[in-house]
Parts: sequence; C-alpha cells; structure tokens
Amino acid sequence: MPPSKKILILPGDGIGPEVMAGTRRVLDWLTASGRATFEFSEGLIGGASYDAHGTPLTDETVARAKAADAVLFACIGGPKWDKLAYDVRPEKGLLRLRKEMQLFANLRPAIVMDALAGASSLKLNLVKGLDIMIVRELIGGVYFGEPRGIEQLKDGTRRGYNTQAYATSEVLRVARVAFELARKRSKRVCSVDKANVMESGLVWREEITKLRDAEYKDIELSHMYVDNCSMQLVRAPKQFDVIVTDNLFGDILSDLASMLTGSLGMLPSASLGAVGADGRQPALYEPVHGSAPDIAGQGVANPLAMIFSLAMMLRYSFGMLTEADMVERAVQAVLSKGIRTRDIAEPGQTPVGTFAMADAVVGELVRDGA
Ligand code: IPM
Ligand code: MG
Repeated sequence: MPPSKKILILPGDGIGPEVMAGTRRVLDWLTASGRATFEFSEGLIGGASYDAHGTPLTDETVARAKAADAVLFACIGGPKWDKLAYDVRPEKGLLRLRKEMQLFANLRPAIVMDALAGASSLKLNLVKGLDIMIVRELIGGVYFGEPRGIEQLKDGTRRGYNTQAYATSEVLRVARVAFELARKRSKRVCSVDKANVMESGLVWREEITKLRDAEYKDIELSHMYVDNCSMQLVRAPKQFDVIVTDNLFGDILSDLASMLTGSLGMLPSASLGAVGADGRQPALYEPVHGSAPDIAGQGVANPLAMIFSLAMMLRYSFGMLTEADMVERAVQAVLSKGIRTRDIAEPGQTPVGTFAMADAVVGELVRDGA
C-alpha cells in the first residue's frame, strides 16, 4: 500500500459543504476498496473563515495547504459578505491561497459529455465531442499587479486603477504547462492575448513564440486576440484544443467555454505550481462553479464538478490514472442512465439531490470495480 496522501479539504461557503460531503463519499469508496489511503484535514476559507476569524484565510490554513499533498476546494462567497472591503472579502481568501501556494497554472477543461450535449446553448453539431483545455495563468496579471487602488481626485471624484503586467518568467512557466499538455493531446496550442493594444500582451506573445521555437518545435502554435477568441469560441469551438492565456482573459474565456458544454456547474479545474526539488507539486482542485447561495443548504446542488475535480486530483497529483478514469466513467454512466440533479434535468426527468447523485456515482464505481 503506497503511503497515505494528505488532503486538505476546504468546503468554503454556500453549496460548498454539501458538494464536498458528496465528494467525500467517492473518496471513502476509494479508501474502502483498498485503492488508496487518505489522511484528511479540514479548514475554513472565504466567508466561513471571515465569520470565525475575521479573515477569509488564516496563516494556519495557508501552512496546512502548503504541507498537504493536494487541496480540495469547493467554492466561496455570498451576499452576506458582498459589502466587505476587498482585502477581507471571501474572494481574497482564494486569491491569497493561489498566490501563497504559487499555483501559476490553472487547467480548465471544457468537455461536452454526450449525455448532456443537448443542453448546450449551441447547435449539437457545433459542440458534440468538444474537448478544450484552457490553461489560465493564475497568479499574475491585473489580478495582482501593483500599483492598484482607489484615489480621491481634487474635484471630489475618484479613480480606481489596476496594473496589467507580465514578466518573461511568468509567461514561460505557464506556457510550458500548455505545451506539455498539448504533447499529450493534439499538439496544438492557441495563445490568446491583446498584443494589438497592450505591451504586456506583446511580451506574452513574443516570449511564447520564442519558447516554442526553442523547445517545442513539435507543437503547432497559433495566436489570437482575445476578442476574436471569444467570438471564435462561440462560432466554431472545435477549432481549439489547448488555449493558453493570462489571468483575466482566462477567467472570462473559461466561463464562456463552460457554458458551451451545456454543463455549467459540471466543470472541474486544477491549479498547479512548479515541481519542487523534493518532487512535490503544489496543487489545488476546485469546481469552476460558484457558491450558489440561492440553493445552499437545500441538498439539491450538483456535486459532479467537485467529483470531476477529485478525478483531476487523482490524475495529476497522485498518478492514479486508472482510478481517475473510473471516476469519470462512473459519472458518465450515471448521466447516461438519466440520473440528474435539478440544474441539468431535462423535461420528464425527476431530479435527485446532492447525496443521491454522489451515491449513484459510488454505485457505478462498485459495479465497475467488482
Ligand atoms: C474563478 C473565479 C475567481 C477568479 C474569483 C472567485 C476570485 O471567478 O476562479 O474563475 O476570478 O479567479
Ligand atoms: Mg471566474
């Protein structure tokens, strides 16, 4: 039996605790079936942490996240904390955690599952079989650039400002992740920027091109301006394979791409740092969806994005490729039987709750693993 994997669980706010509890059932099955042993600890983040400690992320939680083999995070935020200052808002907890853990590469797959293709807002032929990987830079750009702030002007009005900046090293490390992923896929990378207007975009484009020419000649690299990319994603999404882009553009394009799949609320993501000298790689796994305060606590939230995030953790952090495939297959099997939570139910399908959905996934795993 390999050594147990240390997982820090951060359920966060809103539907976070429910979808995490559902996901725990899948983890418990992996343990019970003898496939892995996990050591869990649980922490607070976001509004939950603010309520308990007056900060959306404590130093202690940061330290535990750094010590863990992987972090499973659900979602944060809600109307209760909307009026707080930026530096104590729930979002700040997540942003700080990304920065402290140095998670510079955010992998956001946008995959159309056959069973849900009909739910896409686009015509079936445009999206059937769609499989895009968006690689978003996660700890640089305008999200973190300095100076930033709000200043009072002499005339009594105000000016809010942020800084968009990218240094060579920041571009190269995320570009490498994209190129390496592309090598395992169709060997195509589209880099997205706004180099026609922004210097940071020009550096982005030129540095990526140099890296491709020096080390990744087997990869076909194309460039696109972000406005065109958003248009192309809706017009003909299947032209893309791996997209690599900066923090802000990646935030926007990944929401757009998730909607193409018809499964908003179904998509997972992985945030990765650099592999250290000790061979460890900081990693955090989270669903792309938010905390859905409107349905929190009702037991109706869809746990599948969280369960897919768990599958990504098995694959990227623990090298458990067989088990990652099993979990994804189990979800597909559940969907193909017409089992749906409310958000993805079609007319005539009676929706099940969060735990019934998680149990259905476990049921498929039991069948598959038998
Ligand atoms: C995301 C979210 C976050 C972001 C928020 C919650 C800070 O939108 O992960 O895409 O903007 O990065
Ligand atoms: Mg976002």
